[in-house]
Amino acid sequence: MTQLTDTNQPFIIATVSGKGGVGKSLTSVNVADTLHKMGYAVAILDADIGMSNCATLLNEQVDATVMQWVNGACGLEDLPHDCDGLTLVTGADEPGQNERDYELLMEAMDQVLVAMAEEFDFIIIDTPAGSGELSLWALDRAQLGMIMLVNEPTAISDVYRFCKYILNIDPTYPFASVVNFSEDEAGADSIQKRFNTILQYFMKQEVSYLGFIPASDDVRMSVTKQIPVTRMQPESPVLKEFEFIAHNILNAMPGEKKLPRQRTMSHE
Ligand SMILES: Nc1ncnc2c1ncn2[C@@H]1O[C@H](COP(=O)(O)OP(=O)(O)O)[C@@H](O)[C@H]1O
Ligand SMILES: [Mg+2]
Repeated sequence: MTQLTDTNQPFIIATVSGKGGVGKSLTSVNVADTLHKMGYAVAILDADIGMSNCATLLNEQVDATVMQWVNGACGLEDLPHDCDGLTLVTGADEPGQNERDYELLMEAMDQVLVAMAEEFDFIIIDTPAGSGELSLWALDRAQLGMIMLVNEPTAISDVYRFCKYILNIDPTYPFASVVNFSEDEAGADSIQKRFNTILQYFMKQEVSYLGFIPASDDVRMSVTKQIPVTRMQPESPVLKEFEFIAHNILNAMPGEKKLPRQRTMSHE
């Protein structure tokens, strides 16, 4: 395959939040599938250990996890699970028993990232809520931290504490936000501005804006029916918001605009 990118390395995005239930997994899956539909080679690494639900959102049955590989129950080559062109690797489908399990898992996921580097343009790592070690691991490996903003005082303060924690370690860490459960663009814009005002005041930092997802019956139905919004028929209007987010991710990437590695897709 022709090498079209200026670097052979995939662009890694970690989807993070302070709180749970704010739409991380949903966003990871739909943004990944949007980039895939644009012709990019995309993988999701589900690092929400014990609560891995990307497979569920895609209506897929995963039969090999990174944890099983650690335990010798499957091979590295068994881990990538094809979801109609989008690749899913699941970290573990049950919580680790002790700290050592998590250490082993993170080491193993590092090896998985190395093994996937040749093949993918994008790897989206879905993480557990909060600033646990798996989220920190994911952010450390990523070139972009995709934070979920939701208009709730607790969600905003949790994600603020999370960003503050990271920015204290690395003041230049590239965060970008997706506003979820917003009514419209104006509502999303106001949440984004409010968040940046706090971040600017206390941390002298700002995060860029990727887009918003409306609170919508289509999204609820997509979750219930286990079909990503990107694959719903007839097409949902929410699809264009994921396309907007995907385009902004491409624009947020440093260097030359990344061109798809696999150029066989007819759309776009
Ligand atoms: N924009 C939205 N509109 C309607 N429901 C949503 C929206 N975003 C998320 N949800 C609901 O919230 C639930 C939690 O989303 P999920 O992606 O699993 O969150 P997280 O991964 O952050 O825990 C979903 O199952 C879905 O029912
Ligand atoms: Mg989740």
